[in-house]
Amino acid sequence: MTYPRVRPRRLRASAAMRRLVVEHRLHPADLVLPLFVKEDLDAPASIPSLPGVVQHTLASLPGAVEGAAAAGLGGVMLFGIPANRDAVGSGGADPAGILNRAIETAVAAAGDSLVVMSDLCLDEFTDHGHCGVLDAAGRVDNDATLACYAGMALAQASAGAHVLGLSGMMDGQVAAVREALDDAGHSGTAILAYAAKYASAFYGPFRDAVDSPFTGNRRDYQLDPPNRREGLREATIDATEGADIVMVKPALGYLDVLADVAATSAVPVAAYQVSGEYAMLEAAAERGWIDRRAGILESLVSIRRAGADIVLTYWAAEVAGWLRADG
Ligand code: PBG
Repeated sequence: MTYPRVRPRRLRASAAMRRLVVEHRLHPADLVLPLFVKEDLDAPASIPSLPGVVQHTLASLPGAVEGAAAAGLGGVMLFGIPANRDAVGSGGADPAGILNRAIETAVAAAGDSLVVMSDLCLDEFTDHGHCGVLDAAGRVDNDATLACYAGMALAQASAGAHVLGLSGMMDGQVAAVREALDDAGHSGTAILAYAAKYASAFYGPFRDAVDSPFTGNRRDYQLDPPNRREGLREATIDATEGADIVMVKPALGYLDVLADVAATSAVPVAAYQVSGEYAMLEAAAERGWIDRRAGILESLVSIRRAGADIVLTYWAAEVAGWLRADG
């Protein structure tokens, strides 16, 4: 009987050895916490399909931002929920609109402690819920939408956002926003492009979180889930247009796309662990079907292993607390 001389299990024999040879670690600074801020709200409101996540008021936002900073997080990503919506999403570019006020509030609370990012898309501001303005036939008009995004970008940059998160999936949105920012003297404002954003069923709870009236689908602007090569193409286009960071979204179902992008990207790569990924694990954990903490940590390190430098996750603050306690 010959015994194996090559024994990979030697490297797994103790916690100390596993710690020494581990390939990927989670760190609070790589995590970004999405935050929802709702206009005309008296007190933070829970979101049934996102247990543990709330819609903030402008008054409760500074505490959330300070908490994120104290947890050592890399940043926060702000979403606004307006009291009124219209066909062209005019609240997005209004300096007094909820998202722009939230940006000012968050930037003041954050100081230099973390990066304040803001969602740049029309879907929270339109009464039909699409990410752009519609043409006479009721389809999203790409180039007319770019003009709206440019207006929103100026409002968000003026409010002090450090990074604009372009999530609308219009062709040319990075180039259009970059040009508008630079022409207005905002060359220091960075762009995080939701480059490979798929038309996913896993955004369901998010639509609750933003009180979305949306009933249709976004298949003529978001990516088709079966398409892998196209994800890399979109990320390449966005980087060429001037994106400072590119993102893949959702995360767990799209780790192949994430790995493709990370393998060649010259700019940092982010991944968004979306609302449905969060809700799915929370629901299973509540039933005792999955170990909650182990499942959360495994899902996050899988996203890092696939190549994400930055991960947006609703668990960011809680996970940061665990990482600190674990040293
Ligand atoms: C669009 C936007 C969406 C999400 C982030 N930005 C929704 C959509 O495209 O339908 C989803 C995030 C999540 O599900 O957690 N502004």
